[in-house]
Amino acid sequence: MAEIKTVAVLGCGLMGSGIAEICAKAGYQTWVREITDELAQKGKTSIEKSLSRAVEKGKLPAEERAAALGRIRTATDLEALRDADIVIEAVTEDLDLKNEMFRTLDRACPEHTIFASNTSSLTIADMAAATKRPDRVVGLHFFNPVPVMKLVEVVRTIATSDETFRHAFAFARSLGKEPISAKDTSGFVVNRLLVPYMLDAIRCLEQGLASTEDIDKGMVLGTNYPMGPFTLCDFVGIDTLLRIAEIMFDEYREARFAPPPLLRRMVAMGYYGRKTKKGFYDYTGESVTPVNLGI
Ligand code: CAA
Repeated sequence: MAEIKTVAVLGCGLMGSGIAEICAKAGYQTWVREITDELAQKGKTSIEKSLSRAVEKGKLPAEERAAALGRIRTATDLEALRDADIVIEAVTEDLDLKNEMFRTLDRACPEHTIFASNTSSLTIADMAAATKRPDRVVGLHFFNPVPVMKLVEVVRTIATSDETFRHAFAFARSLGKEPISAKDTSGFVVNRLLVPYMLDAIRCLEQGLASTEDIDKGMVLGTNYPMGPFTLCDFVGIDTLLRIAEIMFDEYREARFAPPPLLRRMVAMGYYGRKTKKGFYDYTGESVTPVNLGI
């Protein structure tokens, strides 16, 4: 299998920009693809800021920041990514959208190109089946914030070849990450455990077990988790969590994956968490305060 030199990242939001940043930092020529030039530029700016923060903190020499940025090219046209040795999609959790992109790239890219998805809950086989290269399709599931979190779940479908899997695993290591191998079932390892935990915290709140702050405090001080469940929900995104829960419930039909009513109400109201400055907490003031959710 060809050596990976060029990476294409589809989508330059929170996850896509983090993935592109670490790929460029690791020395790969990196394409960033967004649907408009404005979004591509916005993504590149957030990568620039993140690299600047790393320089300010003394974690990255200034010349490496410049070198990493020099390796990043932006595009809106999918055909421009035809020289990629690996494509990593990090767009919204919409299977049709992902498959449409993979179908186009399947025609444009050479045979050796590996297609990877950063999906957190969809199954990789449903994407592999849309291509003519199911043996070269894997999951590469990164965690937020990508530059900090060490884990990557490398997911093989029933059709992924051993060679593709080994290549993807080695690629994750080359980014300075610690990969684990996971089967292609919705949520893989981490979200299979983490999502029911977050949903259960919401059910605890709905049932009046304790306040938002006290449930968070309980888990931080009682288990040394870096964030309590509601801080984490806001960090992941309430809309994203709902989408993940819906997909996982659809896969397993188990009550623990069912989205609690409060989660749906919050999404309906646009309380998406940190990105909208309001979720379980309000981020608009000097200090972060819990939102009154009428419980
Ligand atoms: N980019 C780069 N570096 C970042 C960063 C970012 N976005 N956010 C934080 N950091 C760095 C900081 O620079 C800091 O580095 P130093 O220690 O070298 O100075 C370090 O991370 C710690 O950051 P802070 O001191 O600002 O804050 P903190 O100690 O509260 O840590 C955190 C922040 C790393 C996010 C920590 O709270 C944490 O680990 N939280 C849990 C995150 C988590 O669970 N992520 C998984 C979400 S689920 C997911 O992603 C899967 C899915 O599919 C939904």
